[in-house]
Amino acid sequence: EDELRSAQIAELRKRAPILDDFSSRPLGVILGSGLGGLADSIESPVTVSYREIPGLAGSTAAGHRGEFLVGFLESRPIVAMAGRLHTYEGHAIADVTRPVALMAGVGVDRLLVSCAAGGLNPSYSVGDLVILSDHSSWLHGKLGALPQPDLSWADVPTFRRSLQTCDVELHRIAKETARQNSFDLHRGMYLAVTGPNYETRAECRMMRRLGADLVGMSTVPELLLAASKGVRTLGIAVVTNLALPDAPATADHEEVLDVCGQAADRLQQIVRAIALDGNRS
Ligand code: 6GU
Repeated sequence: EDELRSAQIAELRKRAPILDDFSSRPLGVILGSGLGGLADSIESPVTVSYREIPGLAGSTAAGHRGEFLVGFLESRPIVAMAGRLHTYEGHAIADVTRPVALMAGVGVDRLLVSCAAGGLNPSYSVGDLVILSDHSSWLHGKLGALPQPDLSWADVPTFRRSLQTCDVELHRIAKETARQNSFDLHRGMYLAVTGPNYETRAECRMMRRLGADLVGMSTVPELLLAASKGVRTLGIAVVTNLALPDAPATADHEEVLDVCGQAADRLQQIVRAIALDGNRS
């Protein structure tokens, strides 16, 4: 894995030589479902498809492009993943997190992870942004235990302390951006499930009683991997539909992508503020 990582870093540097010109460490962003539009605001982008990097799986989910964009935002270095990999596409968690390890490998020191999620908290509205103040994952271990938990994806010891994935400083900037631009920004607990189906009414009721505010099919592996590498992280979900027992979670994927498009402006304001804040030097 270490040799592969070195080869991947070399390949990405070769295809995006701009990485060597960066005067400060880049901000990393993962653009989830329907949020790829943010990618268009990256200045002088160099595009590198995941497929061009040895050992990276390509993205197949609708609304996910599957490429790195290396460039500038607010004149600050940025590395974005337009499209992510999911376990429901058949990828192992190690595959899902490998591009994130690569971002850390080329110097990313702060990572914003965006995603679409169902809102379990009845105070949320469709289109709201929610900071992931905490999470639980049924993707690996715990209640959703895999027959043979694959822990190779996070090269940290077992029985470790939980990692801090909601960085205080990034959270502060996000809150301040929401206040200045007069939009709601909630905080909530994100429950990661395998999908690929949305929840039944019974599952929505159950998850809510367990304390989840959001449910989605991604994000936690990427946050954990990045945090395990010492990258400061923040997860932000767009509530694309209400996963409430009396509001059946039968959202279709088109609807999810559409709502994300509407939230993209607010999300972009947060990303810009974080890009601007870092590396003041
Ligand atoms: Cl309602 N459920 C899950 N699992 N993922 C989602 C979602 C719901 N809405 C967007 N992503």
